[in-house]
Amino acid sequence: MRRDVRILLLGEAQVGKTSLILSLVGEEFPEEVPARAEEITIPADVTPEKVPTHIVDYSETEQTEEELQDEIHRADVVCVVYDVSEEATIEKIRTKWIPLVNGRTERGSRLPIILVGNKSDLRLGSAMEAVLPIMSQFPEIETCVECSAKQLRNISELFYYAQKAVLHPTAPLYDPEAKQLRPACIQALTRIFRLSDQDLDHTLSDEELSAFQKSCFGHPLAPQALEDVKRVVCKNVEGGVRDNGLTLEGFLFLNTLFIQRGRHETTWTILRRFGYSDTLELTADYLFPPLHVPPGCSTELNHRGYQFVQRVFEKHDQDRDGALSPVELQSLYSVFPVAPWVPELPCTVRTEAGQLPLHGYLCQWTLVTYLDVRSCLAHLGYLGYPTLCEQDSQAQAITVTRRKRLDQEKGQTQRSVLMCKVLGARGVGKSAFLRAFLGHRLGEAQEFPADSPVHVIDTVQVNGQEKYLILCEMSADSLLAVSPDTTCDVACLMFDGSDPRSFAHCISVYKRHYMDGQTPCLFVSSKADLPEGVPPAGLSPAEFCRRHRLPPPTPFSCAGPAQPHTDVFTRLATMATFPHLVHAELRPTPVWLKGVLVAAGAAMAAVLSISLYRVLVKSR
Ligand code: GTP
Ligand code: MG
Repeated sequence: MRRDVRILLLGEAQVGKTSLILSLVGEEFPEEVPARAEEITIPADVTPEKVPTHIVDYSETEQTEEELQDEIHRADVVCVVYDVSEEATIEKIRTKWIPLVNGRTERGSRLPIILVGNKSDLRLGSAMEAVLPIMSQFPEIETCVECSAKQLRNISELFYYAQKAVLHPTAPLYDPEAKQLRPACIQALTRIFRLSDQDLDHTLSDEELSAFQKSCFGHPLAPQALEDVKRVVCKNVEGGVRDNGLTLEGFLFLNTLFIQRGRHETTWTILRRFGYSDTLELTADYLFPPLHVPPGCSTELNHRGYQFVQRVFEKHDQDRDGALSPVELQSLYSVFPVAPWVPELPCTVRTEAGQLPLHGYLCQWTLVTYLDVRSCLAHLGYLGYPTLCEQDSQAQAITVTRRKRLDQEKGQTQRSVLMCKVLGARGVGKSAFLRAFLGHRLGEAQEFPADSPVHVIDTVQVNGQEKYLILCEMSADSLLAVSPDTTCDVACLMFDGSDPRSFAHCISVYKRHYMDGQTPCLFVSSKADLPEGVPPAGLSPAEFCRRHRLPPPTPFSCAGPAQPHTDVFTRLATMATFPHLVHAELRPTPVWLKGVLVAAGAAMAAVLSISLYRVLVKSR
């Protein structure tokens, strides 16, 4: 919505421009007026639309041509005043004033014009007939009003119309020549209809209409009003009502009717509630509400967010098979300007035979929320989150987690989405590892798109709690950047077990990025199905890990007929959840100590059983 409105009055000399302004302000007809009234500003609270309004007079004797052009340029709406008792002043609307205002302007950006017939007290009947042809010639004329400054007739109305022409302009919505809604308006209303059609049966039931009315206007429709609306639609549009519900045709007709009856503020209220600007685009304010994410914090969907996206899923899963087919996904995407996830989807989450199950769908939302919260906000906006959930903005569907540093201090994280970076030399099997996370065996899955970075996401159980784990592959090349982003909740350093030379790369990555011990690290020895390579002279991987108090390298293979082992992913997620336990618990216990512990355990068991035996014997 605009912050203020500037109304300029133009017209031939002596038609009563200055008198109209002074009558409005003084609430009486001024017998004597100056050539030009001072600019006045009406405060927001006394205007019908609650916006500050400036009213500007024009006088040919006092202003130059340049000053006039400048005023036209600054105006939001122009009232062209004529004298209903002077035909010549009407003729000048067409020949002089409208060309002066809009003659050099493109169709779409013309200033709205209100025709004001003053001195109605001097004429019996109206001069409308002379004006109507002008109105149909110039679509930028919003309306025409006859008034009298002398009798204080229709004065406040004319300023109200002018204000309304700016705040609720007709031009973007309606083509008065073709007498129909403009394409952009139809498109926006169609999206709104689709969002409001909760069960996707292509009609708005009484319940859906009531919910729609409530979210747009703050109160539900009375049952009688509902019936009246449907009756009017039924009478005027074939197929406007079906199975007692309002169809899209009916909905569009209703809006056309509002506009034709001068009630376009109704349609504007609907459009604005769903995020549209004056040019019928979704505004940045709507799509990207403020959300502060301090450094070191991450973004996750909260229960409201998951509940909403799950509702969207269920709405579009028309065959109720728990997965979205390509056609069902298409229907979900229909309220987006472009389909948001199409190409990467099968690579990032678990899909089933070309369908997207609920699990993969929720994973995808989680991934977008974590990696690109702006896109997530926009996507929720396209899906109508604030309107349908009656919330201020999509930001209410997002949780910003506490700083990572605080997690590290507390030795535990509240995050339910954990990030694991997978690093290693070229060809060690990072991509295969990512694909294995989604359950694909070697060579089974679609290749990742060429442009990195590559992410996959799935859920993992950590101590009985479900966590989302994101694996992000960082190519060896990407580490060559000046300051590559290697921050994560756990690092997976991968080398090829059949080619231990690749371990050198891991060592250098470890030393350069993770040596400070802030991030838990797991070394993974890939291609475990191949014969182990002979390590070059120097430290073996196992020895290196032991010396750096790291868990021993974990073997991994995704070749062979069986599903890849998933333990390693659980291990990574566990390490990410309890970073401080890594060194304490996962540190390999020296062998001799293990022996002592086993012996002690056995001894304890023996002592216990003997005592128990004694108790039993005694009680007999
Ligand atoms: P310029 O400043 O010369 O461009 O004229 P203007 O359009 O500002 O007209 P202004 O308000 O000065 O009025 C011109 C004359 O018309 C004055 O004598 C007014 O008293 C008279 N007048 C203005 N409004 C009305 C009206 O509604 N009825 C009648 N009968 N006379 C009016
Ligand atoms: Mg004047």
